[in-house]
Amino acid sequence: MTGCLPRSVKKVIVPPIKCQGIKTKLVPFVMQNIRWGGRGRWIEPFLGSGVVAFNVGAKYARLNDINPYIIELYRGIYLGQIIPKQVGAYLEAEGAKLLKLGESHYYHVRERFNRTGDPLDFLFLSRACFNGLMRFNANGEFNVPFCRKPDRFRKPYITKIVNQVRALANLMQGKEWRFTVGDWRACLQDVEPEDFVYLDPPYIGRHTDYYQSWDDAEAEDLAKVAQSLPCGVALSMWKQNAFRSNLHLERNWSGYVVRTFKHFYHIGSTEDLRHPMEEALVIKPGYEVEEAELPRSLLDNQMSLLLVADD
Ligand SMILES: C[S@@+](CC[C@H](N)C(=O)[O-])C[C@H]1O[C@@H](n2cnc3c(N)ncnc32)[C@H](O)[C@@H]1O
Repeated sequence: MTGCLPRSVKKVIVPPIKCQGIKTKLVPFVMQNIRWGGRGRWIEPFLGSGVVAFNVGAKYARLNDINPYIIELYRGIYLGQIIPKQVGAYLEAEGAKLLKLGESHYYHVRERFNRTGDPLDFLFLSRACFNGLMRFNANGEFNVPFCRKPDRFRKPYITKIVNQVRALANLMQGKEWRFTVGDWRACLQDVEPEDFVYLDPPYIGRHTDYYQSWDDAEAEDLAKVAQSLPCGVALSMWKQNAFRSNLHLERNWSGYVVRTFKHFYHIGSTEDLRHPMEEALVIKPGYEVEEAELPRSLLDNQMSLLLVADD
């Protein structure tokens, strides 16, 4: 059955946009630790780049984010309104202008995106902005500066992005996926026992971004609502790094199974995001894979051996 977990992944499907907290490197870890029959919906209230949902590839899904641009792009691909050929033609045209005009063209596209919300401009910005960050100011405007590479959209890079869009379009064929924009609470209102809810909220108190504000009260509310759901639930959250450990987990998720994994974040503006981070996957009891069943590589934290190309 599509979407059935646990499953091992040899090559992770990489989405065409990047975002803070993207779980590309954690996909195999998530997919091998969760047990789910795949009959209901895979529900993600905090979709972000979508990398987890796309790799699970469930037949039925509800994919939600408060950021409308993420959802519009993916809904467009799902509905066949944004097709790989069109993405290639767009990036070739805009890439040529970027090469000719330099950073003024990047800022022209950014200004146009902030006026129109065009999904292809969103994709362009995600791939040409500094450090692959996705950040919006207090007025909800994309405000990341240029990566300073006017030749960003060379032929192989465009081909890579087009192939990522094509892989998604192919993957979405025949799937019954509902894309929604909104707060996580609305997304969790009609959950059924056979669904599985995967939660990956923003880091508490870390972001000042328009779409990433998240504080203790919000996190506690999510823990309460999630733990009252009639189905399987898993939450991704940092556990500890060299500087501190996450007390929220101990206080709000006791009784849940905790699996951990160390990795590095490469997208991040602050120094502590560049240190190794111990990530936790907190799973509702009964929906975890027994440790005895896990592959050695997972237990030894050797996930880097798996193929993850995430640029
Ligand atoms: C850590 S990211 C998710 C990353 C994703 N799992 C990935 O691998 O790319 C958190 C996401 O939650 C979204 N978000 C923030 N506040 C939200 C809210 N109140 N309701 C729904 N989504 C929200 C953000 O826009 C962001 O895309």
